[in-house]
This record gives sequence, structure tokens and C-alpha cells, in this order.
Amino acid sequence: MKITRRQLMGGALGAVLLPAGARAAAPATLRAGPVERQLAPEGYPPTALWGFEGSAPGPEIRLPQNARLERRLVNGLPQATSVHWHGIRIDNAMDGVPGLTQEAVAPGGQFDYAFRLPDAGTYWYHSHNRSTEQVARGLYGALIVEETEGRPEIDAEEVLLLDDWRMTPEAVLSDDFDNLHDRAHGGRIGNYVTTNGRGDWSRTVRRHERLRLRLVNVANARIFELTLLGLEGWIVALDGMPLDRPRPVQETLVLAPAQRADLIVDVTAEAGETAYLVQLTPQGGMSQAAFEVMGQAAKTRRPAPDALPPNPNTGLPGLSGARRLDLRMEGGAMGRLSDAMTVQGPKTIQGLMQEGLVWALNGFAGLPEAPLTEAALGETLRIALINDTAFPHGMHLHGHHFREILPDRLGPLRDTILVDRGERREIALVADNPGDWLFHCHMLGHQAAGMKTWMRVA
Ligand code: C2O
Ligand code: CU
Repeated sequence: MKITRRQLMGGALGAVLLPAGARAAAPATLRAGPVERQLAPEGYPPTALWGFEGSAPGPEIRLPQNARLERRLVNGLPQATSVHWHGIRIDNAMDGVPGLTQEAVAPGGQFDYAFRLPDAGTYWYHSHNRSTEQVARGLYGALIVEETEGRPEIDAEEVLLLDDWRMTPEAVLSDDFDNLHDRAHGGRIGNYVTTNGRGDWSRTVRRHERLRLRLVNVANARIFELTLLGLEGWIVALDGMPLDRPRPVQETLVLAPAQRADLIVDVTAEAGETAYLVQLTPQGGMSQAAFEVMGQAAKTRRPAPDALPPNPNTGLPGLSGARRLDLRMEGGAMGRLSDAMTVQGPKTIQGLMQEGLVWALNGFAGLPEAPLTEAALGETLRIALINDTAFPHGMHLHGHHFREILPDRLGPLRDTILVDRGERREIALVADNPGDWLFHCHMLGHQAAGMKTWMRVA
């Protein structure tokens, strides 16, 4: 067949172009794939990781409050994946939980995420499929939602993603992600600690400068215990949500996996000194972030900052008439799993362990078919978190923030709460976001080993 040049061009254009006006810009991509990064100090080879858009950690996503976030996840990994937008009170269909809110995206596949960001604050995104492995390989990034008004007066801001990596002496990521010993104990703890993927994160500052530090614990299992040296300031938000009143940083700041803290700090170290965010370890302290003081910005410090503006619909829940539930954590090393066996029916403890299931919630190991509870939209729930194990657990509820019920008051809004071994803590929440919401331990190996359930809000 013979065709004219005219016909050829017309056909090609017709196939590619939509009529003007019907064109929707394709969303920006968030491509997951292998990357290399100089993670270990200079002199070591770069480490093979997985990241987004060619970088691990993935790119920071920063948008104003109430904006829409749109990203096309493109899976260039050899495994299925998904993205969870941690702490966002999100449309359920965009929550990124395979088996609950979407299918995992197969290698070569893609999925369009699009949702509104109702709350200002410090959030993060991460893989939610095989997350023990995928987050450990680097599939996470910061999601910063900026206040549109009432922004604090600061000189600079830093987002600090705190992580630990388990590496071999050759700076290769150790691939024992499914290690059952880790899972039955404290989870995968790394041997190389970084901030924003660097073992020696630092910047220069001036004395009396005011910084906003947005801290995010992105580690699989490490509980960061932090303190300030040569910096003084306040916690102004936890897990994205502003505190009613800035709280001076006095003692140790504890961040469980997935938790965030927004600090406003003043540089009080002298010019020529170095100020630090310090990680306290059993061996002493180590620099998590260093601030070299070069000169002086002002003679004196500013007055204390105001509270950040509250996010919408974050009032105190009324507790009278709230429905009570228990969530009992069991299993793990030095713990019991016997009750789990009876609920799981035909499965024996050996059978569960062969599947890698060593933790249970309310006697069930793994994601149960029936939800923990079905809440009516707007219902207030009080959930007692009972840690009947020998390890701490950082429990995270999707799609909602909750408050701890303290003897004399309600605690700040959080999306992840650390419950120590043997502890019983009670939380209250208004189930005001419809959908099916995962509720799990954010020590990712614990989650993979059974410590998860879900809630239906309808
Ligand atoms: Cu940050 Cu279910 O996760
Ligand atoms: Cu746990």
C-alpha cells in the first residue's frame, strides 16, 4: 500500500493528540526503582538501594495546606509496591494499603494517587508493600504540608529524616529482611545511622538564629532518643499536628518509628562552636545533626514562639458515651502466642511460625478477615492498648489522629503511639474518616510478623 506524506502525518497526529481542552496534564511521576548512593563514608563503595525518582530517600514533596497532591507511582522495581501517605487524613482509596485499599502495583505497573491535604504539618510517604524490605532499602520521603497562615517566624528550616541501615563491612545493604530472630525481638535495627541519608549531616548557622527542625523517624524499628546541645527550643507539633502550646524541649525527646516532631530552636552555642541534635545511645551520645556556628545573627534571642494554627476538626473528643475496645498485643520472644493459636483454628504455633507469624493482636496473627471494629461515622472510640509482650510497639492507625487519655487530661493528637513492654495506654478518637483503615505496629518486621488489624468506619 502506498500512502502520501499527508496521510501519514495526519494519522500520527490523530493518534497522539486529544482535542484542545480535553488534555489533562499527566501527573508528575513518583518512579520507584533501584538507585545507588554514597551512604557509607567516603572511601567505601556506593550502596545499592531502592528509591523514588532516582534518589533514596525519595524527593521531598512540599505543598500548601488544602492543595491536591497528585503523583503517578510507576513501578520500576522487581517487586510489587504501593505508597502510603503516612499521617494524612486521606481518602481511603488513596491510602496505599495492598489487600485493604488497593492492589499492589506489579513491576512495570502504575497507580495514580490524587488527594487533598487537609492538614498542615510534617508527614512522610513510604512503600506499604513488603515494607520491612522496601522501606529498609530506601523507599520513603518527606511530605511537608505548609501552613497558609500563621507560619512561625524562622530564619531557616530543615527536614531531618532519621534512619538506620544494616550494612555489611563492604557497605552492602544486608538482605536478611525476613530474619525471624529480628522479627520476634525488637525488629531490624541497623548498624549505620543517618540523617537524610548521610552519616555526617551538618550545616552552618549563626548564633541566635531560629530554626524549624522537622524530625521524622523513618527507621524500621529504631526508637530514637534525642536531645539538644547548643540549641534551645520548643516542640510545636507532634505527628504533624500542632500542640496547643509550644512545649520546651527539656528532657529526652523520644521518637518511635514513624513518629514526627516539629521543633523551633534557637542557636545558643557561641560562634566557633558546634551545636548538635544528639542521639542518645547506651554507649553515650552521637551527632545526629551538627550545626557549625559561624558568627552571630542577633545580640539576643527572640521571644518564645506562638503555637502553630490548629488543623481543622481537631477539637477534644467527648468521652461520655464513647465505645470501649481492647487491643491486646501478644507474642514475640519471651512472650506468649498460645491464645493466637486458638483463634486461628486449625493452625498450630509451628504452622504460624513457618509463615513467619510470631505476633498477635487480640489473639489473631496477621490481617484478620473481620475488622477490629465497625465504627459509625462520627462515633467516638476509646481503645485500650495492652502490651502483653516483652518489647515496645509503636502502634499506628491510618486515616485518623487520636489522643491519649491521661489521668488529668487528653494528650496531644498523634497518629503513632509508643506502648512500652507491659504498659497499658488508652487512646480516644473520633472515627470521622470513612473507609477501611489499617492499625498496626510500625516496627515493620512486627507488622509483617502478624501485628496488624483494621477498622471499618462507615
Ligand atoms: Cu507509616 Cu501503615 O504506615
Ligand atoms: Cu511491634
